[in-house]
Amino acid sequence: MRVGIPTEIKEDENRVAVTPAGVETFLEHGHEIFLQAGAGRGSRLSDEEFSAAGATILSGAGAVYEAADLILKVKEPLEPEYELLRSGQVLFTYLHLANSEILTRELLSREIVAIGYETVQLEDGSLPLLAPMSEVAGSLSIQAGARALEADAGGKGILLRGISGVRRGRVTVLGAGVAGFNASVAAAGLGLEVTVLDVNARRLAYVRDVVQGHVNTLMSNRANLREAVRPADLVIGAVLIPGARAPKLLSRELIRQMEPGSVLVDICVDQGGCAETTHPTTHHDPRYLEEGVVHYAVANMPGAVPQTSTYALTNATLNYALRLADCGWETAAAEDPALARGVHCARGALTQAAVAETFGIPLSPLEV
Ligand SMILES: NC(=O)c1ccc[n+]([C@@H]2O[C@H](COP(=O)([O-])OP(=O)(O)OC[C@H]3O[C@@H](n4cnc5c(N)ncnc54)[C@H](O)[C@@H]3O)[C@@H](O)[C@H]2O)c1
Repeated sequence: MRVGIPTEIKEDENRVAVTPAGVETFLEHGHEIFLQAGAGRGSRLSDEEFSAAGATILSGAGAVYEAADLILKVKEPLEPEYELLRSGQVLFTYLHLANSEILTRELLSREIVAIGYETVQLEDGSLPLLAPMSEVAGSLSIQAGARALEADAGGKGILLRGISGVRRGRVTVLGAGVAGFNASVAAAGLGLEVTVLDVNARRLAYVRDVVQGHVNTLMSNRANLREAVRPADLVIGAVLIPGARAPKLLSRELIRQMEPGSVLVDICVDQGGCAETTHPTTHHDPRYLEEGVVHYAVANMPGAVPQTSTYALTNATLNYALRLADCGWETAAAEDPALARGVHCARGALTQAAVAETFGIPLSPLEV
């Protein structure tokens, strides 16, 4: 199959969908790779490395979309990319469609087979292609929060770790999934006072087991949320309902009740964010103040550490992408229910229930 790798155009997105080692693997399977010149630059991977691995380097995104039947990307297509997509083309990337009705309708009207990394789901409910990026975002969230708490960033001016004779920071983590778990581990590792909330008792038990005695776990309900959020120096939003918009756990009123200069790092901004006050930001301008609370809501946090993230992402996506190239999307989805769960649009129909519900678009469950 002819596989295309365009350069990501989202602001500050430095990842690329395949590494040179991945290119070699595609070639071993008899496929061709068309890579946009400079696609790996942000991850410090040169065209020469890709070329040596066997990729054909093309200049301009148009040539890549034109040449390929399967497009591998990192982030959802942005407006300038819509017109490059061709009917019947398979697009495998993070989509987050519940966040964009415009993109959803574009993919449908252009009859793209759109498969979202974030809803490829194993039988046990886990999300293998979201997990590595959530690991990165969760770990980064504590660094981002520590920076936002500094006075020049608008924060209350505390050193998150504290020092002898001065209290350590209080961190509340909403969601004990992959991102929340990694945030909790990073925070506990710094010796912070950590409270983590989830609606899933098994996830809470897991965090408690792993970080033995170094975190408080609380069932997520209104009363516990209030109690844990109000006194926190740093709140991390890491909740997810797969395929749907994030639940708004933090009302404007609750945000207002936090101490001025406290910080919210809303990781789940890519699904709309878990606070009424959240709107997306970028790496160039990552923070804003609302109701006295510093908000950090960068929708592509792993883009800050592109080398780590590119390798982590491609480690996870490569086998699925290879299957799509080896057998075609219909056979691949028919043989692997996890991959089938990732299909959002096919043959002009919307196949994800949560997205259909969000936008009131008729649902056509996938038949493969
Ligand atoms: N901003 C970024 O750059 C970035 C990067 C990676 C992931 N993410 C996002 O981070 C979020 C979390 O991803 P994940 O992989 O950790 O998901 P996950 O499924 O592993 O964990 C989500 C957790 O949220 C819990 N949850 C659901 N509703 C809840 C509620 N009302 N109260 C408390 N907990 C609740 C679930 O039980 C689950 O344990 C997603 O929105 C994902 O898209 C963002």
